Amino acid sequence: MIGRLNHVAIAVPDLEQAAGVYRGALGAKVSDPVDEPDHGVTVVFVELPNTKIELLHPLGDASPIQAFLDKNPSGGMHHVCYEVDDILEARDRMKAEGARVLGDGDPKIGAHGKPVLFLHPKDFCGTLVELEQA
Ligand code: CO
Repeated sequence: MIGRLNHVAIAVPDLEQAAGVYRGALGAKVSDPVDEPDHGVTVVFVELPNTKIELLHPLGDASPIQAFLDKNPSGGMHHVCYEVDDILEARDRMKAEGARVLGDGDPKIGAHGKPVLFLHPKDFCGTLVELEQA
């Protein structure tokens, strides 16, 4: 069912430092920081030939990644995002498989303006999974 890897998201405590690592040592193409207040994050996009890395930093008081950074103070992989053709079909399949869909189960408009859902890490090998309708 899942298609391409859309992105891997890495939560970082210092966005400028992290962008510097990807731009410098790793020699990647790195965007300027983009504030996404609706999602409580500031994001730096790292463009790779076959996918993207998103460096996430908390924005505002209620950021969904603050608790993750509290537990992982030097940062770490936060989630992977797989593309699906039909988000509602994907959700129904996940529920039928007994997987936990986070929130109320209705897709939200994600950071790229497309519908997304998140799946409970305990059901997917300890990794938070985002599904995005491509
Ligand atoms: Co994401």
